[in-house]
Amino acid sequence: MTLLDILRLGPVMPVLVIDERDKAVPLARALLAGGIRVLEITLRTPVAFDAVRAIRDAVPDAVVGMGTLTRPQDLSAARDAGAVFGVSPGLSPGLLDAAEDGGLPLLPGTMTPSDVMTVRAAGLRVCKLFPAAVAGGLDMLKALHGPFPDQVFCPTGGVDVATAPAYLAQPNVACVGGSWVAPKALVQAGDWAAITALAAAAQRLRG
Ligand code: 3PG
Repeated sequence: MTLLDILRLGPVMPVLVIDERDKAVPLARALLAGGIRVLEITLRTPVAFDAVRAIRDAVPDAVVGMGTLTRPQDLSAARDAGAVFGVSPGLSPGLLDAAEDGGLPLLPGTMTPSDVMTVRAAGLRVCKLFPAAVAGGLDMLKALHGPFPDQVFCPTGGVDVATAPAYLAQPNVACVGGSWVAPKALVQAGDWAAITALAAAAQRLRG
C-alpha cells in the first residue's frame, strides 16, 4: 500500500497523544470499532513507541503511523517500533533524506507553496497542510491546486467535525487529520464507547 492508499482508507486520521501505555490498545480498538483504521500516534509522550508496538501486536487491522517526527533519527525509531508510515509537522532536508533512505513513507507538513515545491523535489506527491486553519484553510488548498494540481493534501490542525466536510470536498484532499475523535478527557476516563461513537461519526463525514 502506498501512503496515498493508506490516507484514502478513511476520511479522518486521528492524531493521538497517548499518555498511558495501557490505554493504547483499548483506544485503538475503540477507533477501529467505529471504522477508523489509520492511526497517527504522536511522538509526544514517553510511551509513544511502546504504544505503537502494542497496537501493532494486538490490533492487526490498525494501520499505525507515528507522528511528530521532527529529526531524522525519529524516523528510523518509528520504523523500528513498527510504524508503517511517518508524519511530521514540517519538513527538513535531513528528514526527507531519512525517509528516502529509510524506506518509511513520510507525510511531511507544508504551509507554503515553497514547502510544497520542496516536498515535490523529493518526489513526494502527498503532504499535510499544517496547521491547516492557520495556513489559510480551504482558500489555501484551492490556491495550491492551481500550480500543483497533482499534489494531494491531508489538512491537519484546527480541523474539526464541523469544518471537515468542506475540506474533504476539495479535489486535492485525501483525508483530514484531527484530534477531536479522541479527546484527552475521554481517553483518560477510558470512555471507549464515546470514542467509538466519535469515530463512527467521523467515518460518516464522507459518504
Ligand atoms: C496536532 O498536531 O496536534 C494536530 O494537528 C491536531 O490538531 P487539532 O487538535 O487541531 O486537531
